[in-house]
Amino acid sequence: MTSPTRIGIHDLAVATAGHVLDLDDLAAATGVDPGKFHIGLGQDQMSVPGPDEDIVTMGATAAQQIIARHGVDRIRTVFFATESGVDQSKSAGVWLHELLGLPSTSRVVELKQACYSATAALQAAAGLVARETDTQVLVVASDIARYDLDSAAEPTQGAGAVALLVSADPALAELEPVAGLHTAHVDDFWRPNDSVTAVVDGKLSIDAYLDGFVAAWDDYRTRGGVDIDEIDLFTHHQPFTRMAAKAHRRLAEHTGAELPAERYERSTVYNRRIGNSYTASLYLGLAALLDGDDDLTGRRIGLFSYGSGSVSEFFTVVVQPGYRDHTRASETAAALAARTPMDVAAYRALHAGAHLGSRVDVEIPAQSPWPFHFAGVSGRARQYSA
Ligand code: CAA
Repeated sequence: MTSPTRIGIHDLAVATAGHVLDLDDLAAATGVDPGKFHIGLGQDQMSVPGPDEDIVTMGATAAQQIIARHGVDRIRTVFFATESGVDQSKSAGVWLHELLGLPSTSRVVELKQACYSATAALQAAAGLVARETDTQVLVVASDIARYDLDSAAEPTQGAGAVALLVSADPALAELEPVAGLHTAHVDDFWRPNDSVTAVVDGKLSIDAYLDGFVAAWDDYRTRGGVDIDEIDLFTHHQPFTRMAAKAHRRLAEHTGAELPAERYERSTVYNRRIGNSYTASLYLGLAALLDGDDDLTGRRIGLFSYGSGSVSEFFTVVVQPGYRDHTRASETAAALAARTPMDVAAYRALHAGAHLGSRVDVEIPAQSPWPFHFAGVSGRARQYSA
């Protein structure tokens, strides 16, 4: 009998927005003790997109790194996961497909469920690859987290993208088959069609997240998932990185297991500096683990994906031999360092200008340090340049 094909994450690349606001500056401007942001929320900075940046440009910047390494020939599907879609009808992935010169023989679709949908995309990708093992699926998760100015959620904003190449015989991490699922209707966080900022009940959202985590964990175990002692490391959706600490503690209480903070802490290093990136956040956590100094070969990582509203999923991956030859710590460090620091007044001006309607033609000059730019609106259609 032939052994089943191993399927998982063959490559993982990160992108973020072109500006950065230090949360010390936001604390000073709003009269808040900076300890609340650094310790209470676990956030140090937030990435802020400029006028020529959006989910398409960040997603394409992440995916371009993957294409430079692996080419496009085997990609037949692009899943674009986002909460911050730029059109009610057209997938953001179709613009990305054009910018990256992907084959016309591809299917491209956008997936939405708050911060969760990249995980649905990853699982669907694994199914497609299992059916046609010589093909690959490009999963892009890209989001801009925007809340109202002066709201409790303001310091948890951010912007970022990841691109995942899903294939057989993955170089980074094999996806294990068992997943634990939980869906429950809850009005904890959502974004009405006429709003560029999310509506959120912060305390309810924390409770809904934690309830979803234990319910997904219980389902994972019921479906045959491994005992908690067989999971070496964890990463969680990180709307703010302290949420990972809360989740880790809740799982320890729920299972009765000893779960020291070293089993998730390294996963927070990128999110502390980028802020919430919704769909990308969990996979920034995975990238941070893989990019760390410890050799994780053969280690099992548990991933908890949460999307308000709400959908939860817990699943595991196993880190592959030789993975360190394929990680991208230096590229991610360079992207973080390339951001232009901005003050609170400049950040607020960008926030106020975030809503660009489609009824007036506008040209936006290229200014971000990345290869792709949102160039404005012409005849109600979004324009991009490379
Ligand atoms: N030094 C150290 N810690 C301090 C401090 C100080 N000077 N001042 C306050 N703190 C601590 C508080 O004690 C508190 O700690 P605990 O969580 O342990 O109680 C923490 O800082 C936060 O303080 P508050 O509870 O007073 O914060 P807040 O009410 O102003 O807002 C929030 C916190 C509700 C998370 C808000 O930022 C928010 O609404 N964020 C958006 C919603 C969100 O991220 N929800 C997470 C789950 S939903 C999800 O995951 C989906 C998604 O991506 C949005």
